[in-house]
Amino acid sequence: MPRKRVAILISGRGSNMAALIEAAKDPAYPAEIVLVASNRPDAGGLTTAQKAGIATAIVDHKQFKEREAFERELQKVLEAHRVEIVCLAGFMRLLTPWIISRWDGRMINIHPALLPAFKGLDTHERAIAAGVKKHGATVHYVVPEMDSGPVILQGAVPVLDGDTPDALAARVLAVEHKIYPQALRRVAEGLR
Ligand code: GRF
Repeated sequence: MPRKRVAILISGRGSNMAALIEAAKDPAYPAEIVLVASNRPDAGGLTTAQKAGIATAIVDHKQFKEREAFERELQKVLEAHRVEIVCLAGFMRLLTPWIISRWDGRMINIHPALLPAFKGLDTHERAIAAGVKKHGATVHYVVPEMDSGPVILQGAVPVLDGDTPDALAARVLAVEHKIYPQALRRVAEGLR
């Protein structure tokens, strides 16, 4: 079976991206990372990807007046690399139904909370403020509604007394790096 061709979309440091790249080094892994694309020219993850020998692209949203023009360019790049699955990994742009509908069942995202709790930003601060005892991360299919869509995999961590957002974020991030490669494996195998 040929491995599924995967693009990872990032906006920043790309530690989840790095975890996916690492998993895909195994020839038995059902997906290969063929492209890393960023909407920010200064995303640190671009350098990591280049060092790993992966093709990179920058589609700078600031160069486009309309969201859809940005997405049309992004879609062009994805098609040029014959991408079959898109992984959002710290990609900080909201996508419109125009592009999401083109990737139905083939675009996934990682969110640093146990969805449906704490959609949106600042999840760790909000989890601490809410006094929850369990927090974590979710990999889910992308649908037009933000941070919704069927859950593929979740990983939980305890919230400890005296936790700071940074300490909690680090605990959650370790779980993200485990579940994202597992979730992508499931999706890639499911598409066979
Ligand atoms: C992660 O916490 C991810 O869940 C969220 O943004 C962060 C990105 O981190 N969507 P990184 O760029 O993967 O290191």
